[in-house]
Amino acid sequence: MPANSRQVSSNQRHIHANLATVVDRHLGAPYRRPPAQHSVTAYAQLQQRLNESELPLILDSFCGTGHSTAALAQCYPEHLVVGIDKSGQRLARHRAQACDNYLLLQADCEDIWQLLVRDGHRCIRHFLFYPNPWPKARHLQRRVHGHGSFPLLLQLGGDIMLRSNWQIYVEEFGVAMHLAGRAGKVGRVPDGPAMTLFEQKYRGSGHPLWQFTAAAPAVTC
Ligand SMILES: C[S@@+](CC[C@H](N)C(=O)[O-])C[C@H]1O[C@@H](n2cnc3c(N)ncnc32)[C@H](O)[C@@H]1O
Repeated sequence: MPANSRQVSSNQRHIHANLATVVDRHLGAPYRRPPAQHSVTAYAQLQQRLNESELPLILDSFCGTGHSTAALAQCYPEHLVVGIDKSGQRLARHRAQACDNYLLLQADCEDIWQLLVRDGHRCIRHFLFYPNPWPKARHLQRRVHGHGSFPLLLQLGGDIMLRSNWQIYVEEFGVAMHLAGRAGKVGRVPDGPAMTLFEQKYRGSGHPLWQFTAAAPAVTC
């Protein structure tokens, strides 16, 4: 991947003025869009894996080529790591790894989240590396935290890590999580080997990289 990517440019200088209104509205209304048929078909593969094993589930949403999915599968051998991306072109560029505890699905993340929640599944960790920033202010509701499916992400639970090369995106995500009662930390991505191909490209282009992390909510009896 060429290392000359441009920084995110936006007509927003701060977190979106409507963020709290949009998040509150979505938190108060269940997401009802029926999943697309291609996502339902992809989900059938996941259902089969979940039926076959009791491994805890890790999600790698917006996984692109699945580079991070395979890396996570190596880091977490006793888990099932599931990468989800809607782009068949990106997934076709995946370089298969020897470990067999991961699965790549060509599907819309919000559909898979919805189907998992419907069937009572929860994840132990959820990674969201560099989702599309949708930097125009009018596109707030296309961002993960401004989308109607945001409550599903919360229902799936688990430790959450989201990364972006746009600081405002990560700050907005952090505020949305806080509004939802899942406060976490916003900070810089530590130096180290790149988790994803986009991370590698952004690092190579000198972009500051940001992340939000939150531990899973404590279980109360
Ligand atoms: C900027 S790329 C990041 C890919 C990868 N995480 C990385 O860091 O290399 C964003 C990815 O999100 C995918 N995507 C966007 N909207 C999606 C959705 N609703 N469901 C699934 N994938 C989506 C795109 O196809 C693209 O591969």
